[in-house]
Amino acid sequence: MCGIIGYIGEKQAAPIIFSGLKKLEYRGYDSAGIATLNNGIHIKKDVGKVKDIHSRINLTDLPGFIGIGHTRWATHGGVTKENAHPHTDCSGEIVIVHNGIIENFQELKRELKHHKLKSETDSEIIAHLIEEEMENKGFVEAAKTALKRVEGHFSLLILNKNDKRMIAARRGSPLVIGVGKGEYFPASDIPAFLDYTKDVIYLHDNDFVVLDKNGPKFFNLKNGENIERVVSTVDWDAEQAKKGEFEHFMLKEIIEQTETIQKAINQKMEIVEEVVGDIKNAQGIFFVGCGTAYHACLTGSYLFSKVAKKHVNVVSGSEFPHFEHFLTDKTLVIAVSQSGETADVLEAVKTARKRGSKVLSIVNVMGSSLTRNSDKVLLTHSGPEICVLSTKAYTAQLALMLLLAYATAGKIEDGRDQLKNLYNMVYNLTALSKRKKLKKLAEKLKDKEHIFTIGRGLMYPTALEAALKLKEVSYIHTEGFAGGDLKHGTIALIEKGTPCITFVSNGTEKEILSNAMEIKSRGGYIIGVGPKNNDIFDYFIKVPKSSVADPITHIIPMQILAYQLAVLRGCDPDKPRNLAKSVTVK
Ligand code: AGP
Repeated sequence: MCGIIGYIGEKQAAPIIFSGLKKLEYRGYDSAGIATLNNGIHIKKDVGKVKDIHSRINLTDLPGFIGIGHTRWATHGGVTKENAHPHTDCSGEIVIVHNGIIENFQELKRELKHHKLKSETDSEIIAHLIEEEMENKGFVEAAKTALKRVEGHFSLLILNKNDKRMIAARRGSPLVIGVGKGEYFPASDIPAFLDYTKDVIYLHDNDFVVLDKNGPKFFNLKNGENIERVVSTVDWDAEQAKKGEFEHFMLKEIIEQTETIQKAINQKMEIVEEVVGDIKNAQGIFFVGCGTAYHACLTGSYLFSKVAKKHVNVVSGSEFPHFEHFLTDKTLVIAVSQSGETADVLEAVKTARKRGSKVLSIVNVMGSSLTRNSDKVLLTHSGPEICVLSTKAYTAQLALMLLLAYATAGKIEDGRDQLKNLYNMVYNLTALSKRKKLKKLAEKLKDKEHIFTIGRGLMYPTALEAALKLKEVSYIHTEGFAGGDLKHGTIALIEKGTPCITFVSNGTEKEILSNAMEIKSRGGYIIGVGPKNNDIFDYFIKVPKSSVADPITHIIPMQILAYQLAVLRGCDPDKPRNLAKSVTVK
């Protein structure tokens, strides 16, 4: 996944694009570049993070009031200066930035073999395709024709040396347009321009936009017809999208959970009632998500079993195609995604809709692709989650799962009460004193090679999510298991001092403590997470008793521990290596 941003208006474009690229770096940070238009095309690009590139080659002195920029997460071609965007055609007069994947790249490359490609990327071919079409067409028509020949996903910004307009287009990758006073900010995501405007136009798939200082003109790429798009105002402010007094977004977003869990339950009752009706009428329910969102789905299946006595299937987005033959027009698919742009989830939803199934999505980003491909949407209202790791969005997803389970059981107020009681619990769990205590544990664990986590019932998905949090930000190999499963083989890896984090929740206490004993008797170092201490524990993390809300209370210390471990190990908590905030490739 990459980040793109453009500017067209009265101000110098480069500094605005530079500032936007820094806010988009969570989408990809292998390399970055900017191109501006001012009596010709001016380009600067290199490998590395935006601020490091700027300190080397000064990205903000490019001239001109029109420009485009890009941060890259490599999919085609290595991390090199040549592969960094922007890319030009042979003449150097057409310049593009692209987020997505060109699936017919090789075929187009063969067709354009007389063009001299300068990079290994698939994106560059788009500039050459437009150049080819301009043999007998104007810039706009050439771009339209060229994009019709492209298969795959794209969000694109295009400039032409001899034209003062910018072209923006999207199909399958996110693109929005910030609307200022006589200035426009096309970008992959809202935080890129929040310092300048909160007014935004959400583009839909196959939107083709011609932008000049007088404003955008919208066309449908498929049939060329003019279309209208409305301006909305986001309820995020620039502060929310900034770190504030925190060193990292990850810590800021962990602490925000006191508020965001409460926001998640603020849902329009009529929507919740409609959703409950869909759940009750469905013949077969599938929860679908990836990574952390998958763990929210798995937790949801336990909550629906325990509270609503309702069976649901849970499938990771990438595995969904292996179950599509079960989908009918009576099936309900509940897709969970923070970004609403995860390709595997979008594919699952597309499959479900083709088979006539109803789709409800639980999403954080308003206007994302998933929200536009669902019959109903429940927004988690967590605000922008900038850190690559999902923390506040995860607990918001859990809160909604709990609310829906109680609503399905006809006890929505009980569910709402349980969640409202979390306010003080989460406030205390994220307090500085707790963070300091967990830093001491992180100091004990920071040089470990392996960590294991175990839980039963609702604590099993919690164990999986804890393992993902720890490993994806500290790079320590961490594996999560159902408490009863470790002894079926993996216990062979337990040596003296091997840490095992044990999640204790009422109803599974006796069994999970016996599993912890099996590990301790082989030398394991037992870290207990639960409402009360036990002699088995070598280290104890106290969490309040909260019954079905345990998945929320028990994961928060793990998020903090993961953060502390990352900082101690010199890892970047907001942008871990190899990861991207939203995986928009299958
Ligand atoms: C989050 O901590 C993970 N890095 C990642 O697994 C993420 O949850 C997954 O890619 C799904 O993203 P989404 O919620 O935006 O769909």
